[in-house]
Amino acid sequence: VNRTPLIAGNWKMNLDHLQAIAFVQKLAWNLADAKHDFGAVEAAVFPPFTDLRSVQTLVQADKLPIAYGAQDLSVHDSGAYTGEISGAFIAQLDAKYVIIGHSERRQYHGETDEIVAAKVQAAVKHGLVPVLCVGETAEDLEQYGPSAVPVGQLETAIAGLPADVDLVVAYEPVWAIGSGQAATPEQAGSVAKALRDVLVESLGAEGAAATRILYGGSVKAANIAAFMREPDVDGALVGGASLDIDEFSAIIRYQK
Ligand code: G3H
Repeated sequence: VNRTPLIAGNWKMNLDHLQAIAFVQKLAWNLADAKHDFGAVEAAVFPPFTDLRSVQTLVQADKLPIAYGAQDLSVHDSGAYTGEISGAFIAQLDAKYVIIGHSERRQYHGETDEIVAAKVQAAVKHGLVPVLCVGETAEDLEQYGPSAVPVGQLETAIAGLPADVDLVVAYEPVWAIGSGQAATPEQAGSVAKALRDVLVESLGAEGAAATRILYGGSVKAANIAAFMREPDVDGALVGGASLDIDEFSAIIRYQK
């Protein structure tokens, strides 16, 4: 099966409005220089909510080969939920993706597997592609081994989804995020394989084969190619290195 690799930049709470605009323009320049083929490697950015409209305007005005999405969404469609953002609003900005269940949301905002599952349902309902994050902490790794926790998180989050759901899974070991200590490609590849097996169980062989599994956690230009050589790793969810325009461009233009 041919899965288009996805290189996704999660800006987290970084890049203010002017920086966001400058970044997208510069990224478009870099990709144009490289004659970037969106069909060969898909590039996506995940700005803060406040910049989604500007990114939409830039991308649509010049038909830039850059996809974009939000970093979170509400489980609700609308109503008295101060500060929340509905998937319907995000979809109106022509965003393709939404990150769900990032470990920082789980850790700092009390997102349980059940909330994550509800958010996945909300995203699908509004036509957004979930980038569903799963991953174990260092303590989990010690106690349960490498794949038990991410496998359990994935099972809960995708229960009840149709077999043809458009879904991206991001495996992000929490101990590798922002630590400079990436998983080895073999570690990432083996957990990605375990996650693929869960997808086969839940979505069937075809759905599983069509679903992209990303690795995230201290990905940079120097290590991306090794991750991409793993058969079950179909791209990367990049944090820190996605804020550096040249580094992020180099990651998108990785050579296998
Ligand atoms: O969403 C991105 C991840 O949390 C990875 O962050 O590349 O800074 O380790 P990082």
